[in-house]
Amino acid sequence: MTSPPVRRAFLTVPRERFLPEITKREGLERVYQDEAIVTSHDERGIPTSSSSQPSMMASMLEQLDLRPGQRVLEVGAGTGYNAALLAKIVGARGRVISVELDPATARRARRGLASVKSPAKLVRGDGREGWPRAGPYDRIIVTASTPTVPRAWHEQLSEGGLLELPLVHRRGQAQAIVTFRKLSQALRSEAVLYGGFMPLRDAPGAPVASPPPSLGAIERIDDRSRSLAQLSGEALRRLSAARRQRLLSLALSEARVHELGLRAPRPALSLYLTIEAPEDRLVGGWPRIGVISENGDGLALLAGGAKTFTRIESYGDRDAERLLLGLTEGWKQRGRPAGHDLRVEVSFPRGAAGSDVRLSWGS
Ligand SMILES: C[S@@+](CC[C@H](N)C(=O)[O-])C[C@H]1O[C@@H](n2cnc3c(N)ncnc32)[C@H](O)[C@@H]1O
Repeated sequence: MTSPPVRRAFLTVPRERFLPEITKREGLERVYQDEAIVTSHDERGIPTSSSSQPSMMASMLEQLDLRPGQRVLEVGAGTGYNAALLAKIVGARGRVISVELDPATARRARRGLASVKSPAKLVRGDGREGWPRAGPYDRIIVTASTPTVPRAWHEQLSEGGLLELPLVHRRGQAQAIVTFRKLSQALRSEAVLYGGFMPLRDAPGAPVASPPPSLGAIERIDDRSRSLAQLSGEALRRLSAARRQRLLSLALSEARVHELGLRAPRPALSLYLTIEAPEDRLVGGWPRIGVISENGDGLALLAGGAKTFTRIESYGDRDAERLLLGLTEGWKQRGRPAGHDLRVEVSFPRGAAGSDVRLSWGS
């Protein structure tokens, strides 16, 4: 953490007050680990609310460049912890409104905020409509992901204000947390962080979008289990059951290894691939990522150390390997772009209901 106001906020707002049931059940230590803590699920067990990972919250708050006295809108109150941190940073002259869709979650957030005497105001509603009666806002922060940018957020943001949101690309396969500045008719990205958030929902109780298809093999011996292969991605959906099974057996076979001759930072090359690889070929996701061949008879995955990719491991036909090599070469030729090189521009075409999101790589 580099910003003193963000640091002070984390030191003064107790996270346990927003997670009383977890603190009671698992102790204070659990609440002070740098992990997201899920607080509710839908009937299929898919998380619908959580207290986000503290280090990610800190990076997002720093990126938002908050100043005392600012008016802030948060979309997705969850436990209310982030709203309390926001209120601490903008101080007594500032104002924080946090919108939560789910009534029970809104009630728990209100209780948490009251328990620390936070002035942040919790309101219930669909945050995609913003909260016009208290706008315009100097800052808007969204803590659930979205593939589009609702016009209301642009309208309720002051000129020159900042909007930070987890932007979903390619049906959930890629996410980047983008901070935009409002420039009259458009929003232009100023900074990008890596990270993943659960999606915004249409209504309380509405199903959360299912995760992409996945297949895997696990070895369980005595009490220990270990993943032997794990592939996921929309690309698997177009393959027949027999082809998916064959792909899994390929992933369990011995790989051909192609050394890249470089140490590519994992987050940078992963983000590049999720944006540039054809959607019907991309598989994996953190920490593995790669592509399958056109007909599903081949697989190529990036591999290496904890922080870098150093080689391609491939299986079956050579089509996937060629594609992954080409994409990696493209990344090199473009100057090895990372998150901060991603430019995102959002415009709101006249007469159209939605927004137009354009991604490109700057230098
Ligand atoms: C990751 S949690 C937010 C974490 C939270 N900021 C905190 O500090 O605990 C995402 C929240 O967004 C809420 N949400 C989902 N769709 C929404 C919508 N359309 N409008 C407002 N809130 C929404 C969910 O119910 C969930 O509580």
